[in-house]
Amino acid sequence: MSQEETEGERLAELAKRRGYFFGASGAYGGAAGFYTFGPQGASLKSNVEDAWRERFTVQEGNFEVEAPTIMPEPVFEASGHLDGFDDMLVECPQCGESHRADHLIEDETSIEEAETLPIPEVEDLIEEHEIQCPACGAHLSGEPVDDFNLMFETNIGPGSSTPGYLRPETAQGIFVEFPRIKEYARNSLPFGVTQIGRAYRNEISPRKSIVRTREFTQAELEQFVDPERDEPDLESVRDVEVTLYPATEQERDGGGYVETTVGAAVEEGIVGDAWVGYFLGVAQEWYERIGVDVDRFRFRQHLPGERAHYAADCWDAESEVDGDWIEIAGFAYRGDYDLSKHDEYGDDEFTIFRQFDEPKEVEEAVVEPDMSVLGPEFGGAAGDVKAALEDLAERDPSAFEGDVVEVEIDGETHEVDADVANFRIEERTVSGEHITPHVIEPSFGVDRTVYTLLAHAYERDEVDGEARSFLSLSPEVAPTDVGVFPLVSNVERLVERAEGIVDDLRTAGFSVVYDDSGSIGRRYRRQDEVGTPFCVTVDRDGLEGDGPDTVTIRERDTARQVRVPVSDLVDELRAVESGDRPFDDLVDAYELVAPGADG
Ligand code: GAP
Repeated sequence: MSQEETEGERLAELAKRRGYFFGASGAYGGAAGFYTFGPQGASLKSNVEDAWRERFTVQEGNFEVEAPTIMPEPVFEASGHLDGFDDMLVECPQCGESHRADHLIEDETSIEEAETLPIPEVEDLIEEHEIQCPACGAHLSGEPVDDFNLMFETNIGPGSSTPGYLRPETAQGIFVEFPRIKEYARNSLPFGVTQIGRAYRNEISPRKSIVRTREFTQAELEQFVDPERDEPDLESVRDVEVTLYPATEQERDGGGYVETTVGAAVEEGIVGDAWVGYFLGVAQEWYERIGVDVDRFRFRQHLPGERAHYAADCWDAESEVDGDWIEIAGFAYRGDYDLSKHDEYGDDEFTIFRQFDEPKEVEEAVVEPDMSVLGPEFGGAAGDVKAALEDLAERDPSAFEGDVVEVEIDGETHEVDADVANFRIEERTVSGEHITPHVIEPSFGVDRTVYTLLAHAYERDEVDGEARSFLSLSPEVAPTDVGVFPLVSNVERLVERAEGIVDDLRTAGFSVVYDDSGSIGRRYRRQDEVGTPFCVTVDRDGLEGDGPDTVTIRERDTARQVRVPVSDLVDELRAVESGDRPFDDLVDAYELVAPGADG
């Protein structure tokens, strides 16, 4: 392994060789931005999804849904993606390669977050810094920079009359179903809805293997709240320590991180919304639990020009790999943007009924137009005139103060006698009102989490005088729980016993790999390299003694081995795997096997 090899290169090599992930459809030349997760990777990824589901769905008491990945065009007209989900594209005049203009600027200058800049400024910077095409070296000065919409378009059914799009975020599948999901929540706020699933973005230049792809997995939570009444359980995360990089610090000369607690960050207004603060705390603990290195992790607030069209405020969780910061999750305050838009564009009601503490007396403007007059006067338009009068009464009761009321229909003004409109103010008792819930959205990228876990877990050391590399993955997410080996493969008794142990462990719910090929040392190294936390070896000593049969359990990170009775194996593995019992306890309780005894 050369000295110059970057973390990313080492990861890509390991990922391919050991079956974590690799470019998809390789037999046909591949397709940029699409990856297949191999046996190890698929298992690691689904363990990350399970860990996320356990924390953000089950522990939070939320509802999980699974919506389609293709949705009709009107959904994305309403959501704003059709108009505003763009990146800046510049094409090379020589080789035709497409590039993200903001990324070229970030790569070639000291400017960060260039996506916040307006297009003319980006064009000027390309010229000023004489930026060249990374593929062929041609100068890009003077080339136009255009907005490029990232959604993949398709047709629903034959023909082209019903355009649809592959969803660019799982979130819209939750928002459009709000009218039905609120029924399951008994029309009562707050409640959260989660979804883990594929999202698609036709990225201009996919890069860094699974970090920026065209098909990826998101784990999203839409927390619906009444902004005037609902508060999160901030107390439960008040003391969680976080590294924050607020927008003000990013903009200030010499600005830096704020090391604080979630409670202090919310109280001091560094994080403007308590719900966002709450989820930063939950996420910080969750990332730490699954194995993200907290010394290479921070929350960075979006700069004003960087925020998505729906977000009033947003913090990204970022992990460091190869000296670069990767956005692995976003925590956005989406306000009532999405539900208001779907309420406006869709046929259902995207509001919720908020009960008052006490019923209230309210004044209500009422019109009861005399249709026996409107009918003959306006003919077919009489219904529209009536609706316009009702609408006007609600919006502007003062319009009924004169003798004549004017309403506008399709740009044309119509006059109605005030006594025909029959306007009055009535007193009514109301028990509540319809409000549009606000949304706080923690949105996690599963692929980038997997990438971070692999990068942060990679370690090198020496065992028995030999260099080894291993993945110190947390047992909760490691693809395989236990490797089981007969010390030698030509002694039937050892093989049979090892196979029996494999069956027992699988029945107990462990994911197990059986391996009897090559030296025992090499078998350990193979499991170390894919991050298997424990290995069990069946040897003659364990089966031939006077007492009960024993096997050894080896801990990956320290390579220590203890000899335990086979009858205790499942319980002991369960205890150390879940973290209930540290391996040190086993070392205290059982015979430690001497280093090198494994051959
Ligand atoms: N619903 C909000 C939303 O989609 P986002 O910041 O665009 O927000 C959320 O995406 C997360 O999805 C990101 O933090 C990132 O981890 C992941 N993600 C976004 N684009 C990606 C891509 N092209 N490849 C892999 N992951 C991506």
